[in-house]
Amino acid sequence: MGNHISGITPALLEIWMRKYYFNTEIDIGSSGVENFSLAELYQLVGLTQEEFDRIVFHDSSSLGSLGLRKAIASRWGNGDPEQVMVTHGSSEAIFLIMNGLLHPDDEVVVLDPCYQQLFSIAESIGCRLKPWRLQFKHNFVPNVEEAKSLINSRTRMVVVNFPHNPTGASITREQQEELIVAVAKVGAYLVWDAAFSDLTYGLSLPNPILQYEHSISIGTLSKAYGLPGLRCGWCLASPDVLSHFIHMRDYITLHLSPLIELIAQRVIENADNLINIRLQQARMNLEILSEWIEQHQEFVDWVRPQGGVCAFLRLRNISDSEAFCQIMANTYGVLLVPGICFNHQDHVRLGFGCSTPHLHEGLNRLSKALIAEQAERR
Ligand SMILES: Cc1ncc(COP(=O)(O)O)c(C=O)c1O
Repeated sequence: MGNHISGITPALLEIWMRKYYFNTEIDIGSSGVENFSLAELYQLVGLTQEEFDRIVFHDSSSLGSLGLRKAIASRWGNGDPEQVMVTHGSSEAIFLIMNGLLHPDDEVVVLDPCYQQLFSIAESIGCRLKPWRLQFKHNFVPNVEEAKSLINSRTRMVVVNFPHNPTGASITREQQEELIVAVAKVGAYLVWDAAFSDLTYGLSLPNPILQYEHSISIGTLSKAYGLPGLRCGWCLASPDVLSHFIHMRDYITLHLSPLIELIAQRVIENADNLINIRLQQARMNLEILSEWIEQHQEFVDWVRPQGGVCAFLRLRNISDSEAFCQIMANTYGVLLVPGICFNHQDHVRLGFGCSTPHLHEGLNRLSKALIAEQAERR
C-alpha cells in the first residue's frame, strides 16, 4: 500500500450528501429504505434494555464477533463463519478489498455508472479501469457479452453491483452463471456488491461465493435494512483473502464495537422481520412512482428498477441536472442526487425507499419545480 489514498478523486456523492442531507426536509435522494429507530428494533428483533446493560466495552475480534459472523454466514454464505469479516459499513469492506488485492496496472472491469468507491479506489492505486457500460438507450440492460469481451488474462478483478445503484438494473441467473464462468476462466476476483440483494421485485440471485472460490461478496445493513447509522457491513471471502484485510485493518479500525455487534447480530438473526416491512413499502412506493412518471412523461423518462429503491431518471428538458437538484434542495427542501455524482449529467437519482407520505410530498414538490422550470424556459 503506497500513499495513493491521499491523492484520490473526491467522492462526489458523499460531498453532495454532506451539503444537503442535513438541511432538506424530504429525502427522495438516498439509496436505502426508511430508517429504523432503536425503539422499533426492540419490537422487531426482541432486544432488551437488560442486554444493553450487560455489554462490557471490551475489544472485539478482528473478523468480528463469532455470533455475528455465524449469523451472516448462515443467512448469506455457506454457514462457515471463517469466510466472514464484519466491517464498518460495506465502505470499509470495499476499501480493504481494493487496497488489499489490487496493484498498479491491474485491469479492473467495473460497471459504469457505479457507486464511486467501487472504481475510484482502484483508479487511485493506478489500475486500468475497463468500464462495463449500462446505457439508457438500452434500458440500462447489462450486456454480459460486452462484459465478457472486457475480461482477459490481465483482468485482476471484476466489480459488479446487482441490483444496481443508481439504475436498479440487474441480471438473470443464467447471465450471472455466464459472468462467473468468464471470470473463473481467467482466475480473476469477482467482487459482488450485494447491498440491495434482499430488495428485489422479481428473481433474486444466489451469492456467487457459493460457486466461485475467488468471489468476494459485500453486504450491509445500510440499504435494505434501514440502519445506515449503525455502520455495519461485511464481506464474504476465503479465509486467505480475509487475512490480507486483517493486515490492513490492524492500522485503521481494528474491530467493531460490541454494542454494534450485539444489535447487528440480533437484526440479522431476525432479518425477515425488517425486510418484510420495508419490501412491502418499497413495492407500494414503486407503484406510486411509476404512476407519477406516467403523468409526467413530458418531463421525465425512466427505466423501471428491478431491485433496490433507486431510479435513475432522465430529465428531458433540463441540461444542468446539478443546478436543478440545487434548486430542489434550496427552494423546495427536497433531496435528490444529480447524475454528475455518477458521471451522467442528464440524469437524477431518485430514491423511493422513504415513508409513503414523504414520497408523495417529495413528488408533489418535484412536479412544482419541473413546471416552474418549464415556465421559466418559455
Ligand atoms: C452499491 C453500494 N455499495 C456500498 C455502499 C456503502 O454503504 P455502507 O458503507 O453504508 O454499507 C453504498 C452506499 O451508498 C452503495 O450504494
